[in-house]
Amino acid sequence: MDIDQLLADKPVIHGDITHGLIPEAIEHIGRTVKPGDRTAETGAGHSTIAFALTGATHTCIVPDPDEIAAIKRYCEAEGISLDRVTFHADVSERVLPAIGLEELDLALLDGSHSFPQVFIDFFFMGSPLKPGGTLVVDDIHLWTGRVLRDFLVEEPGWDQVAELRGRTAVFLKTDAWDPNAVWYDQPYVAKRTGFGKPLNKARQVVSMARHGQSSVLAGELRRRLPGRG
Ligand SMILES: C[S@@+](CC[C@H](N)C(=O)[O-])C[C@H]1O[C@@H](n2cnc3c(N)ncnc32)[C@H](O)[C@@H]1O
Repeated sequence: MDIDQLLADKPVIHGDITHGLIPEAIEHIGRTVKPGDRTAETGAGHSTIAFALTGATHTCIVPDPDEIAAIKRYCEAEGISLDRVTFHADVSERVLPAIGLEELDLALLDGSHSFPQVFIDFFFMGSPLKPGGTLVVDDIHLWTGRVLRDFLVEEPGWDQVAELRGRTAVFLKTDAWDPNAVWYDQPYVAKRTGFGKPLNKARQVVSMARHGQSSVLAGELRRRLPGRG
């Protein structure tokens, strides 16, 4: 079995509905991942079978044991080895901080699409990605995925290499990403905060006054008035 055959005859993994990655995204993973690469994904399904077919050493984090069972049944019937695939049957927001992934060649974010899970997944899977590694973000038509995509487009250290049918974004990580960068060095955050703009300063002053921080406000005004210390 290869990825074309998988796409031609996709098994049902998620109950009655198929939530799988679009074929273009699965093909992209199939072209990018080489045998022996280290990969990880949140969520499970057709993508997990595709990872198994590539021969990668793969970590799959998914809370639903029925999905894991369906993947195992399909792979057994089709003679696909899951020897290099490790399943963690729990939510990623609990598993990822505990297992400490290392040195990934590719990470797929396609588990929970809720806030803040998408961003937790990004932090714990984007950080161990090697420079030159690939980050696949699915469901960028949802708010959480779209914000992450827009953040990465502006963030130093990430180059967008593909956007597949408005559903899946693919980024290459360079060595310039600093996961501990301060917020005003993150262009997406700084721009939307209005960092350094007079209007934003005025907003801060009004907010301080509203919350009764008159002494802080007075000190701030003294500092800014010409000729005052
Ligand atoms: C869109 S489906 C994944 C589709 C899969 N990539 C494929 O190609 O078939 C979303 C997956 O996220 C899983 N999921 C939901 N909440 C999760 C969480 N908090 N952590 C990890 N996975 C989660 C679901 O069980 C489901 O497997």
